[in-house]
Amino acid sequence: MSEVRITPDDTPDLKQLDPLLDEYRGQKGAVIPVLQKAQKIYGYLPPEVLRRIAAGMRVPLSKIYGVATFYSQFYLTRRGRHIVRQCDGTACHVRGAGKIVERMEQELGIRAGQTTADYRVTCEVVYCLGSCGLAPVAVVNDQTIGKLAPEKMTTILRSLE
Ligand code: FES
Repeated sequence: MSEVRITPDDTPDLKQLDPLLDEYRGQKGAVIPVLQKAQKIYGYLPPEVLRRIAAGMRVPLSKIYGVATFYSQFYLTRRGRHIVRQCDGTACHVRGAGKIVERMEQELGIRAGQTTADYRVTCEVVYCLGSCGLAPVAVVNDQTIGKLAPEKMTTILRSLE
């Protein structure tokens, strides 16, 4: 995962956007690549960043928000340092993924789709990761882990710093 560069008071350093805006200003179809690159810089797309992009590209803020909210690849809230995606698709579900999701929620004290208050972990439920033969499967920070069980999920979550 890319480094999340947020200043200590959580205010994004908007100067980091300048080279990006200079590169893409005036180009047609540039909104998506600019949002992708901005998300790489900050880890997500906070409102200040979206406003700066709108102003810098001379595109209405409503259009920037429209794109950022339409595509699931964009995140408008800050994500955890670790991303855990538990599959609850059919193959995983019949092999007990529901219990793993429950364990994940209990262990972290949040619901699927949320991020812990200390931004340590974001947990998500997805529906098929394309590794059904390994069901139940989770992806932890881009690493696929198969044949999971609730106890194993607990061990994984406790190992994430
Ligand atoms: S259903 Fe879980 S990997 Fe396909």
